[in-house]
Amino acid sequence: MKILVTGGLGFIGSHTVVELQNQGFEVVVIDNLSNSSLKVLDGIKAITGIDTVFENLDLREKEKVQDFFKRHNDISGVIHFAASKAVGESVENPLLYYENNINTLVYLLQELQQKQEASFIFSSSCTVYGQAEKMPITEDASVQPAMSPYGNTKQIGEEIITDTAKVTNINAILLRYFNPIGAHPSTEIGELPLGVPQNLVPFITQTAFGLRKELSVYGDDYPTPDGTAVRDYIHVVDLAKAHVIALQRLLNKKNLNKVEIFNLGTGTGSSVLEVIQSFEKVSGQKLAYKIVGRREGDVISAYANTDTANNVLGWKAASTLDEAMASAWKWEQKIRKQ
Ligand code: WQD
Repeated sequence: MKILVTGGLGFIGSHTVVELQNQGFEVVVIDNLSNSSLKVLDGIKAITGIDTVFENLDLREKEKVQDFFKRHNDISGVIHFAASKAVGESVENPLLYYENNINTLVYLLQELQQKQEASFIFSSSCTVYGQAEKMPITEDASVQPAMSPYGNTKQIGEEIITDTAKVTNINAILLRYFNPIGAHPSTEIGELPLGVPQNLVPFITQTAFGLRKELSVYGDDYPTPDGTAVRDYIHVVDLAKAHVIALQRLLNKKNLNKVEIFNLGTGTGSSVLEVIQSFEKVSGQKLAYKIVGRREGDVISAYANTDTANNVLGWKAASTLDEAMASAWKWEQKIRKQ
């Protein structure tokens, strides 16, 4: 079975390629290297021993996408990660996000609709829920008006896929990630630090390594137990494994021909201060941080109800927050020693 992974050299993409290869799938990766590096191919090979077929291709170029599918006409499924994902950048440059996250999705689906049948896994996000009324968040929680163009592209993407699946032979599953963190236990792959990290965990590990002066904690006046915002931090390897299980569900036609949605989280909410405490425990060192004002657009709390993922998809996150933080720290130390 040949599977296309777009954005397969990215953070979640690369970990998913490893899990697919571990399960015997033949994987082809498309990546335009805008937020990744060819070194990730070496990391994947160090883990699986496989030279992954890779094409440096920009999915915004429709003709290139058409040509790719002509040359790879035996693709059974696609896991689509390739997209821009920085919330703040999307506010500054919305058209970059609408072009890169929407046009590319349409071009991929236009190719897949020509096949007898095709399985499609979409990388979506809990950001579509905005500030959900009820915690933990279930998949039928209402999709709120997006708080950023990035979040809007995820909502629009889900709608495009749902509409298309109704009238084509495309079988799709939408995976709504909570907060992916950590790195592969081998430390051969992990989150590549390009620029100043927007996300909490890479900022913590870079601060601990001495690359950043201190972490700014964005607000401690939220209506949460310790005043800092709550999220559901899930180990990236657990997340990657969920993609393989979801793909197998589609390939085995278990999804009864309807578009299914799964929240991928641990089901446990952790505050920013709890993440810091976890880091200090697993690293054995104090973290320099200061409390500052809230960050525009942040929600108070978001953590997953994982019943559907556990009972229907048959997947459950295995790693604890401490294990995930320890893997993130191990990765940071490894890449800084190179
Ligand atoms: C987590 C918490 C911050 C940095 C975003 C996207 C989501 C997904 C993951 C792509 C928040 C606080 C952060 C810092 C801080 N993106 N924080 N100081 O915003 O929950 O989710 O990234 O797939 O779609 O929305 O993640 O890691 O940025 O923030 O205090 O320097 O840490 O306020 O409470 P977020 P995050």
